[in-house]
Amino acid sequence: MKQVTYEGLTFEPYITRETIEARIKELGKDIMRDCAGKTPLFLCVLNGAFAFAADLFRACEDIDAEISFIRLKSYEGTGSTGVVKEVLGLHENIEGRTVIIVEDIVDTGNTIARLVNDLKAKNPAEIKIATLLFKPEALQCDVRPDYVGFSIPKKFILGFGLDLNGMARNLGDIYMLKED
Ligand code: IMP
Ligand code: MG
Repeated sequence: MKQVTYEGLTFEPYITRETIEARIKELGKDIMRDCAGKTPLFLCVLNGAFAFAADLFRACEDIDAEISFIRLKSYEGTGSTGVVKEVLGLHENIEGRTVIIVEDIVDTGNTIARLVNDLKAKNPAEIKIATLLFKPEALQCDVRPDYVGFSIPKKFILGFGLDLNGMARNLGDIYMLKED
């Protein structure tokens, strides 16, 4: 693995695809254990969570489950705008169901807090949050992810679905912004 460059910024290897893959399998086991006898609806938050959701969903193959997709956006460049807008809605009836929100990363928590709030109004049985990455030091909201792949420092990262203005989502490994 070597450094990659986007928009003149340099990123260093941070988490390998093998490590990510192994961790997602563990999360799948946790979810299958907690959801035995339920039929959870996985709700993948596009665009960033698509890669994680695809792997996590298949890591849960021993339970009955559904997956659907929602799109929200709150980020521009490397700093949170704090503005959360819903772009693509939810069409499933989630009343009485176990919903597992699948996010790429929880940073300030604004995105997930807004989504949890919107979903609660639809009376699900329970809402769980699965996130590949979590920046505890950046958290500004009262949300606690239930399934966390990796807790990381408050640094900008990309790859494995995470982007910089739309680029780098196709990197198989995760990279961190190099500071000098
Ligand atoms: P939050 O609302 O501040 O928690 O931000 C959540 C969204 O911001 C995520 O779903 C990502 O799309 C984006 N985001 C947060 N941190 C990063 C990062 O380090 N790299 C790329 N995108 C990020
Ligand atoms: Mg996202």
